[in-house]
Amino acid sequence: MKIWTVANQKGGVGKTTTVAALSGILSEQGHRVLMIDCDPHASLTAYFGFDSEKLDATLYNWFSETPTTTQQALRTIKQLQEPRISLMPAALSLATLDKRFSDREGMGLVLTRVLKLLSEEYDYVLIDCPPVLGVLLVNALAACQHLVIPVQTEFLAIKGLERMMNTLNMVIKAQHHSIGYTIVPTMFDRRTKASIQALRNMRDEFGHHLWDKWIPVDTKFRDASRINKTPSRAFPETHGVEAYLKLAKSMLSITSTESVASATG
Ligand SMILES: Nc1ncnc2c1ncn2[C@@H]1O[C@H](COP(=O)(O)OP(=O)(O)OP(=O)(O)O)[C@@H](O)[C@H]1O
Ligand SMILES: [Mg+2]
Repeated sequence: MKIWTVANQKGGVGKTTTVAALSGILSEQGHRVLMIDCDPHASLTAYFGFDSEKLDATLYNWFSETPTTTQQALRTIKQLQEPRISLMPAALSLATLDKRFSDREGMGLVLTRVLKLLSEEYDYVLIDCPPVLGVLLVNALAACQHLVIPVQTEFLAIKGLERMMNTLNMVIKAQHHSIGYTIVPTMFDRRTKASIQALRNMRDEFGHHLWDKWIPVDTKFRDASRINKTPSRAFPETHGVEAYLKLAKSMLSITSTESVASATG
């Protein structure tokens, strides 16, 4: 089982869209995929048509009564209509985790522990993160082998990336395990000078950690979420989906050479 976390402490850069798009593509390619919604705003959960406040179990339960068997963990996961793709939904109550359980030991490793129980059940786990530093982001980073950082191609977004890199280094230091990462330019608009300049700056600054292509602006992503389908199921022919297909291919190739215990930094 490979675990990829999608995170950036800047909001609205395409994290949730990236999780939905990559998960759809991987499942269509025959992989069993679990998406985990770690954002108290539950955007990914809503994307697939679930009302997080009406669910009997959400990710909150993994923290309050951590499953100890595979069956217990599986019972809390939702199967989507699309084959081979499942969702661990979020709820607003996740926003209280930091206050409620901050002094409990091992709080940073809850996801790591539960995902170990599920290692035979899924081929890929994709974790969607909130745009804030807290126990959820720390859990998501500690659990993953590879981090995908979507960055909007604009000047300010690049500045915000420093915060994300600091957080990543903090977790790497605390956990003594390295995490590979890939920066993915999103919402690229080839008609604007600002987008082109931002992409150039990113190339200079992040070199080989920057994915060599980009995700274009595509209004179909919003339309796909409106009908609760992964982008590749909803609109397989669009430029946006084509770009995510290329990203999936690159990610599969990059992460195939990373071992579980020691990814390259
Ligand atoms: N490449 C794209 N082109 C056009 N619109 C996009 C693209 N990617 C995402 N969007 C849209 O932009 C909005 C924000 O995207 P998304 O929710 O994926 O960002 P996020 O980083 O998860 O945000 P948050 O930090 O609030 O969780 C959504 O309405 C989404 O449909
Ligand atoms: Mg989001």
